[in-house]
Amino acid sequence: MKLPLSKYVWFDGKYVLTEKAQVPITTHALHYGTSIFEGIRAYWNGKNLNVFRLDEHVKRFRKSGQFYNITLHFSDQEITDAVIGICKKNKITKSCYIRPFYFIGDYGINLHVTEKAPTNVAIFTFPFGDLFNKNGITAGVVSWRKFSDMSTPPQAKMGGNYLNSIIATQEAKRNGFDEAILLDHNGNVSEAPGENIFIVRNAQLVTPSLASSALEGITRDAVIKIAKDLDIDVVERDITRSELTISDEIFLTGTAAEITPIVLMDSQQIGNGKPGDITQKMMQEYHNIVMSKNDDYTHWLTEVY
Ligand SMILES: Cc1ncc(COP(=O)(O)O)c(C=O)c1O
Repeated sequence: MKLPLSKYVWFDGKYVLTEKAQVPITTHALHYGTSIFEGIRAYWNGKNLNVFRLDEHVKRFRKSGQFYNITLHFSDQEITDAVIGICKKNKITKSCYIRPFYFIGDYGINLHVTEKAPTNVAIFTFPFGDLFNKNGITAGVVSWRKFSDMSTPPQAKMGGNYLNSIIATQEAKRNGFDEAILLDHNGNVSEAPGENIFIVRNAQLVTPSLASSALEGITRDAVIKIAKDLDIDVVERDITRSELTISDEIFLTGTAAEITPIVLMDSQQIGNGKPGDITQKMMQEYHNIVMSKNDDYTHWLTEVY
C-alpha cells in the first residue's frame, strides 16, 4: 500500500520534497529496528485543523528513545512546531495522520548504541479516514504472546517492537479475523497489535494495566478520563482470556483506530452483535471532542491555523 503522502516532509529541521528525503542503505535502523515513531491525528472541523493531544505525543516520542539512550536532537518545542508546520507547509484542509519518527543513521554494524549514535528525524503526513469499520470488527486471540519487560521495554514505541505486532496480525488474518488480540506472558489479555483493549462488564469499563505489557496509549488515557467525567466506573486490572467472550462489550482504542467496537470475539458474538451502549457513548463523545464540539476538552486540541 503506497501512502498518499503530502508534497513536503520535514527532514532534520528542513522542509524538503518527499522524494528528496532519502537515507543510505547502511542506516542502522534498517538493520536493527532502531527507530522511534509516533502516530498522531489532526482533525479538520470545517474551519480549522486541530492536532489531538500533541503535547502527550511529543513527550512519548522523546521518552521512547530514552529507554535505549537514542538522542532526539530537537527540543519538544521544535518537534511541536514541526508537526504544526508540516500541516501548514502542505496547506492541509482534511483530517490527516501525522508520522514523526527518528532513527539511528550511519552507525555501521555497531550494537553498542550510545547517546552519541547519529540520528535523523522526519515527519510526514497523509489524509486519513477510518482505519477500521466503525460498525464493529471481528477479533481473535493469537498464539504469539505480547513481548514483555522481561525482553524489551513495551513502553518504547520503536520499530523493532512491531515485529511482534506483524506476526500476530498475520496469524489473525490467516484465521479469518480482522484483528489480533495478544495475551501477555501470564496468559492474560494484553492488547491488540496497534491498539489498547477495553471490555465492559456490568456497566464497568475494564482495561489491562501496564503490567500486562500494554502500551500506555494516549487514546486509552483519553477514554479513561472521558469515562470518569461521564461517571462511568473504570478499572485497570488483569483480564483473563475467557473473560473476553463473556464481556458485554469490547472495544479497541488507538490514534489510528480511534474507538473501534469488537462485535465478534473468537467467533463468539459479543452482546447482540452490534456496538454496545457504552461503546457507542464513548465513540460519540470522542468524535465530539476531536471535532471541537465539546468545550471541556479544548485543551486536548492544538489549532494549526
Ligand atoms: C502497540 C500499541 N498499543 C496501543 C496503541 C494505542 O496508542 P495511542 O492511543 O497512543 O495511539 C498503539 C498505537 O500507538 C500501539 O502501537
